[in-house]
Amino acid sequence: MINRSHYCQDVRDPLVGQQVTLCGWVNRRRDHGGVIFIDLRDRSGLVQVVFNPEHQTEAHQKAHEVRSEFVLRVVGRVAWRPPETENSQLPTGRVEVYADEVTILNGSLPIPFQLDDPDVGENARLLYRFLDFRRPEMQRNLQFRHHVTQYVRRFLDEAGFLEIETPMLTRSTPEGARDYLVPSRVSPGQFYALPQSPQLFKQLLMMGGFDRYFQIARCFRDEDLRADRQPEFTQVDLEMSFPESDSVMQITEVLVWQLFRDLKQITLPTPIPRMTYSEAMARYGRDVPDLRIPLELCDVTAIMGKSGVQVFARMANLSGPRGERGMVKALRVPDGARLSRKQIDDYTSFVADYGAKGLAWIKINGPWSEEGWQSPIVKFFSDDDKRALESCVGLQTNDIVFFCADREKIVNEALGRLRVKIGRDLELTDGRAFALVWVTEFPLLEWDAEAKRFSAVHHPFTAPHADDMALLMQAGQDNDPKLLEVRAQAYDLVLNGTEIGGGSIRIHQPEMQRRMLSLLNIGPEEAEEKFGFLLKALEYGAPPHGGLALGLDRFVAILLGVESIRDVIAFPKTQKASCPLTQAPSKVDPLQLRDLHLRSTFKAVD
Ligand code: AMO
Ligand code: AMP
Repeated sequence: MINRSHYCQDVRDPLVGQQVTLCGWVNRRRDHGGVIFIDLRDRSGLVQVVFNPEHQTEAHQKAHEVRSEFVLRVVGRVAWRPPETENSQLPTGRVEVYADEVTILNGSLPIPFQLDDPDVGENARLLYRFLDFRRPEMQRNLQFRHHVTQYVRRFLDEAGFLEIETPMLTRSTPEGARDYLVPSRVSPGQFYALPQSPQLFKQLLMMGGFDRYFQIARCFRDEDLRADRQPEFTQVDLEMSFPESDSVMQITEVLVWQLFRDLKQITLPTPIPRMTYSEAMARYGRDVPDLRIPLELCDVTAIMGKSGVQVFARMANLSGPRGERGMVKALRVPDGARLSRKQIDDYTSFVADYGAKGLAWIKINGPWSEEGWQSPIVKFFSDDDKRALESCVGLQTNDIVFFCADREKIVNEALGRLRVKIGRDLELTDGRAFALVWVTEFPLLEWDAEAKRFSAVHHPFTAPHADDMALLMQAGQDNDPKLLEVRAQAYDLVLNGTEIGGGSIRIHQPEMQRRMLSLLNIGPEEAEEKFGFLLKALEYGAPPHGGLALGLDRFVAILLGVESIRDVIAFPKTQKASCPLTQAPSKVDPLQLRDLHLRSTFKAVD
């Protein structure tokens, strides 16, 4: 009986005079004391349906009973709207459907929030996600995500990548987060881990000769959540055999370029610019530079170290390995001299959140020789200092320049974040909607001060840079700071200041993999226990291989310009990793725990 003929949005001019059968929800019902109008909505959009008491008595009678969000089937005739009632905002705004027949397929309780209310709280939206989906934004977001996924699948298939699924119940795959564990019923006391990524499986697929693999893969990471982080998320995961870094970057670049062209009608400049990690840190303070913001950091350690500002001098003389040495950097903000004292104080507390102990500043109201420099610290500068600073930072009238002196890590993080914040606050951008950049030559290792050992910057299977191989194999002690200088064959793709993808060339020689694990303080026994299968596979003719994973949720969110990846995930979790709709996670039946050989030690505190 249902037999829908068209989606609502497809009811356009060429159908005038024809009969259509539509199915959908009542978006709005207006009773004009006689004629009743209903905006009927389905996933495509809206069309206006008219119930006239004179011509369609029975349908009109039923329309009286109808309320918002009732589900209807309407059979009617498409007609032009009278010119004065045309709605240019609607794609179907020149026509309407005269209902001959209406069936109420289902009723609806009054809904808890209006679908067009922009201020509905996120908890309510997630609790009634099935209603939230009916809003045009959510329809657009998830339909667009579908197009991206299909596009990627088609592209990678045509490029010779095989889609192969890898297990969800597996062993821990270290990507630096905590695992989600699943207890085993049949092996008492033992646990599966949900994959943080398909990393080791895709490497094994290369060792098995599949040559090119991809998967739209679900990954699980138990970490603190943010707007761009979910405990389960989706990667476009790919791997290829016999590649250089360049091969992986190029195929990704073509995919991204074509996707922008075909799904966003945007022609990106080619090639995507590349920048080494060191350059990104030096100029932008972070390894995820937002290149739309035309502000840069400037290292003034050498100049400021000689000035009379004590903290600057102290930091300039603090030596140490990468990240720990002291430095002074400046951030010049053109036209920033208009910032108020209150704004400067706000920025000072902003950088304090990233560990900075202060934020010195100079307002350039005029040439320094004429007392044009307004600042709490300028009295400590000699004329030489001022001259050197002026030329190093490129100071101009009406600038403000901020300074941070601390350990390298803190200076970069504080000023790098401040750069983005000021860029947004003062709307300093180069006008581009999207700016992509590859960040390359990441360090292989970083020092984990708490655990007092190295950890892998990308993951423990990433190959060192060919030029640094000798340094890695020869460095003496396993805590030799020289090891911090070893670069990795790793690359991240950054879009608008967010890491949307990352990958590397992998280690394919067993002795190199053993060395790497031992540098990470994973002894031979533990290595065998955790990664024995990988080490074994590397012994049987493993081809050189490498790949990358794109964070699909982040990519889609940025393409759509939405703030949070929760808006492009059908059923996301809240900040507390819970789902208001299904109320997961939840308590379980003690019998279930018994089957799993578990007992909870958790005691609720009142
Ligand atoms: P990586 O850990 O960099 O690499 O992850 C790849 C991309 O996945 C996205 N991402 C996330 N998105 C949402 N929520 C999260 N919690 C989250 N964590 C990561 C990011 C990131 O760039 N196996 C390697 C890839 C490889 O080497 O091939 C890996 O997982 O956009
Ligand atoms: P003080 O001498 O502590 O009153 O600081 C004088 C100015 O230097 C203030 O504007 C502080 O915010 C700034 N300042 C203090 N410590 C640092 C630091 N480590 N880096 C940059 N500026 C600082």
